[in-house]
Amino acid sequence: MSDLNLTMHWHGLTQRMAPFADGTPQASQWPIPPGHFFDYEVATETGDAGTYFYHSHVAMQATTCSGPLVVDDCSSCPFDYDDERILYFQDYLRESDQKMAQDVQGVPYRWPGGTNGIVLNGRSIPIDSKVTPGPSGQNGVFGGGHASNPEGHPSPGVKQIANEEGCTLPVIDVEPGKTYRFRIAGATGLSLLTMAIEDHAEFRVIQADGMQYLRPVDTRDLQLGPGQRFDVLFKAKTIEELAADGNKTTYYLQFETRSRPEQLRGYAVIRYDDNVAVPEEPAIPPVDLPANPNGWLEYTFEPLTGVVAPAAEEVTRRITLEVVQLKDSDTGRQIWQLSGISWTEESNKVPLLVDIYQRGRNAMPNYTVAKGNKGWDTKTGSFPIKLGEVVELVIQNTGTMSSDIGFVEAHPFHVHSQHVFDIGSGPGVYDAEANNAKIERLGYKPTLRDTTMLYRYQDTVDPGQAAGWRAWRLKATAPGVWMVHCHILAHMVMGMQAVFVVGNEWDIKEIAPNDVAGYLDYGGSVYGNST
Ligand code: C2O
Ligand code: CU
Repeated sequence: MSDLNLTMHWHGLTQRMAPFADGTPQASQWPIPPGHFFDYEVATETGDAGTYFYHSHVAMQATTCSGPLVVDDCSSCPFDYDDERILYFQDYLRESDQKMAQDVQGVPYRWPGGTNGIVLNGRSIPIDSKVTPGPSGQNGVFGGGHASNPEGHPSPGVKQIANEEGCTLPVIDVEPGKTYRFRIAGATGLSLLTMAIEDHAEFRVIQADGMQYLRPVDTRDLQLGPGQRFDVLFKAKTIEELAADGNKTTYYLQFETRSRPEQLRGYAVIRYDDNVAVPEEPAIPPVDLPANPNGWLEYTFEPLTGVVAPAAEEVTRRITLEVVQLKDSDTGRQIWQLSGISWTEESNKVPLLVDIYQRGRNAMPNYTVAKGNKGWDTKTGSFPIKLGEVVELVIQNTGTMSSDIGFVEAHPFHVHSQHVFDIGSGPGVYDAEANNAKIERLGYKPTLRDTTMLYRYQDTVDPGQAAGWRAWRLKATAPGVWMVHCHILAHMVMGMQAVFVVGNEWDIKEIAPNDVAGYLDYGGSVYGNST
């Protein structure tokens, strides 16, 4: 790009061997200016196998600048399958990434509108003109300008996403009788999806966000939040089963968005014979998808083998991130805060990790100050964690909204670096004792995740309000500067992000980039001007 900065983030990879290459602008690195390059070190370890993706971490560029990333098993997968397919979901938003980021950070605030369609493996189907008629010919051309659909207009029910003339639905080709590993990636930056396949029994979930294999969970409908990945086994029908269906060759994969004022429906085709034409979308939706997304398969995903979550008794500290939206009185902007702090790329003059390399202790957050201030240090605006600490991270939806926006939403929370053990979610205010008792009662063994949903639960006390919590447990083992943020990209740039500093300055400085000088000032051979 000739006029914009860029970084690349390896979403879901721990990068514990290369924290300086995590791709977070002003947290772990300088953004790459136009005409420059950054030599990324992407380091995986045993146990990292799984489905990931990569994307720019500058502003809202992850909307379009992204792609799937698979860390292969080298045949150590405990499950058998014949082949695999990637199902890569993205939003097709109405404006350019940069325009949207400017608008939601602008005064006055302007919401760019909902998604204009869901993109599967690069194929987009804009919103149906039949549902909301607009001037003909204006309905979204892929990659082009505007949809005729009025922006941000809440409408009850579900809208059909329809096909542009000449375009066909996305297709996943399969062969009868085979078992496939579907690597399903939620590279969306706004939409929470629910999906199911017509006349097919189940998805067998074997991985959630990579890394640990799961005790298989069978589910008819799969939910996919922005930033999440699920690896599932899909059993294609046999020739006999297809014959019993009247020699059918295509089935619909139906997906719908949830937890937004506007809900969309779209389709892909599972095709058993690549000679047959791709059908149009069906007149009647073949599948009924759950209306309420809250708590989908909560307390269900458990590791097949491997690392066990630290027990409740080992927890040394709890950090609660209180999610609040308000209008900033100084700037007049609509912002999101996490426990009173709203972090954006403008918050740090020098990227914090660069600063720590350069100034050592003087650049580090003050742990004591942080402990007395909801977990964050006032000087650096970051949350320090000591190596070896067992921390419970609770994301608390307070239900607080500035009335300008007025729709309490769900938030997919994503953690960089080492994954966290997901210990559940629920309505109201987090109660550690009650949740621990529930975990015990269920015999639930939490699994490692990097993105889980803060749902739009209805408040237990005031049903007119929505509020709820999500809780994670982690034993900090990866030194570095890491982010935790909502993967709704508009929320992210509005400040719904936190910077965590794990380890002390020596722990952090021990893991150095190849060309430290170049990393620090962009002057070296590895991080330089490409001309
Ligand atoms: Cu895909 Cu910081 O995230
Ligand atoms: Cu959010």
